[in-house]
Amino acid sequence: MNVTEALWNRRTVRAFLDRPVPRETVEAILSAALRTPSWANTQPWEIWVAAGEVLERIRRASLERTHAKVPSHPDLPFPGGWPEVCRERTKQLTAGRAQVAGTTPEDPAFHRDFLEANRRFFGAPCVVYLCMDRSLGHWSMFDLGAMAQSIMLAAQDHGVDSAIAINMVCYPDLLRKELAIPAELAIVIGIGLGYADPLGPEDSFRSERRPLPEVVRFVGY
Ligand SMILES: Cc1cc2nc3c(=O)[nH]c(=O)nc-3n(C[C@H](O)[C@H](O)[C@H](O)COP(=O)(O)O)c2cc1C
Repeated sequence: MNVTEALWNRRTVRAFLDRPVPRETVEAILSAALRTPSWANTQPWEIWVAAGEVLERIRRASLERTHAKVPSHPDLPFPGGWPEVCRERTKQLTAGRAQVAGTTPEDPAFHRDFLEANRRFFGAPCVVYLCMDRSLGHWSMFDLGAMAQSIMLAAQDHGVDSAIAINMVCYPDLLRKELAIPAELAIVIGIGLGYADPLGPEDSFRSERRPLPEVVRFVGY
């Protein structure tokens, strides 16, 4: 698969098959992704990969807390709010997801099921956690974003689907306990890896994008 195909094919998979991703495959994906550029080659990322019984313990604990309505407390807090134009795009995303699930955004069960699916990491058999030292700033976060996309594109090349989700890191104390992630590292984001379940409720869903002429201004071209 070439990079353009990987860019078009990647999507957030919200239902994975119960089929493990071999360690060699994850290593091949991450080896390629480690070629990601960073500010002056600072390579600010620290990466943990969880699978098997450890991931099952994290998943169970995450679900227990979700059912007990324990508030989430990610190392990077949720934004306080979004501009109206962004909120509108999120509304469109939710409406589209609800439509393919055969319901509407007004349906409380739809939101409950979505939270539940998030907190069980969509059944991903493997989760990659991107971390960085808490003292680092915006530019290192920029580098981590690039790393995240590299991982997801390299995964596509290996026939592996992905789901990037803040909900995978919203109880960081659980992750520190199970994975021995040091306190001085912020656990920024989780990326689930696995194989999409073609029978998943949202498998046919594709999020929309703003059209190129709205986003891009060509000057002197
Ligand atoms: C930083 C970040 C955090 C995200 N967190 C979640 C999440 O917690 N749950 C979820 O279902 N999707 C999450 N997503 C996925 C986005 O909703 C998704 O990328 C967006 O709707 C575009 O859809 P696509 O990835 O299928 O192209 C996250 C994406 C990013 C980049």
